[in-house]
Amino acid sequence: MAYQDDISASYTAKFFYRNISSGNTIFWTLDNDGELIGELYVFLNLDDKDFADGKTTAYLCAFRVKEEYRGQGLGSRIMNKVLAELKEIGFHVATIGVGSNEPQNIRLYRRLGFNKKVKDCHYDPCGMDENNQLEYEEEAWWLLSKEL
Ligand SMILES: CC(C)(COP(=O)(O)OP(=O)(O)OC[C@H]1O[C@@H](n2cnc3c(N)ncnc32)[C@H](O)[C@@H]1OP(=O)(O)O)[C@@H](O)C(=O)NCCC(=O)NCCS
Repeated sequence: MAYQDDISASYTAKFFYRNISSGNTIFWTLDNDGELIGELYVFLNLDDKDFADGKTTAYLCAFRVKEEYRGQGLGSRIMNKVLAELKEIGFHVATIGVGSNEPQNIRLYRRLGFNKKVKDCHYDPCGMDENNQLEYEEEAWWLLSKEL
């Protein structure tokens, strides 16, 4: 989503922007001749150390491929590239969140090696509500992890 200015941006967008600017978040893109067709963000450190602790464990989120490009292996390709790079810079574990009602994503993440369930979560550590607070989510989702 594009914002007119930084005042109208959501708190979540500002959170991402701040973290990218400070070097705590790495923003990966899939590019098709100048067209942005996919993205994946890596948070190196977060308040909840089960997600990311700045040294060994990093959190992957906002993983998206444009609808018309899905199912061609592009998501797996960018994910494997990002995981290899994370290992290269010294991280040992990658985490990712998934809804228990998202069987396709669960299957994809299992195939990519996210075999361990770390815990149930009710907060997205990178999602801010209109009061700039972490938003409580009634339905729990799972934090999965993969050894790199
Ligand atoms: C999750 C997501 C990023 C995966 O991207 P993708 O490019 O579709 O991923 P892949 O193509 O690597 O793999 C996904 C599916 O395509 C299949 N696939 C892989 N290569 C394929 C190919 N060459 N031809 C056909 N299908 C293929 C995979 O088997 C998998 O399907 P299955 O698990 O149902 O069998 C994408 O589906 C998406 O943007 N979803 C909406 C947002 C979302 O849910 N994001 C995750 C939470 S933030």
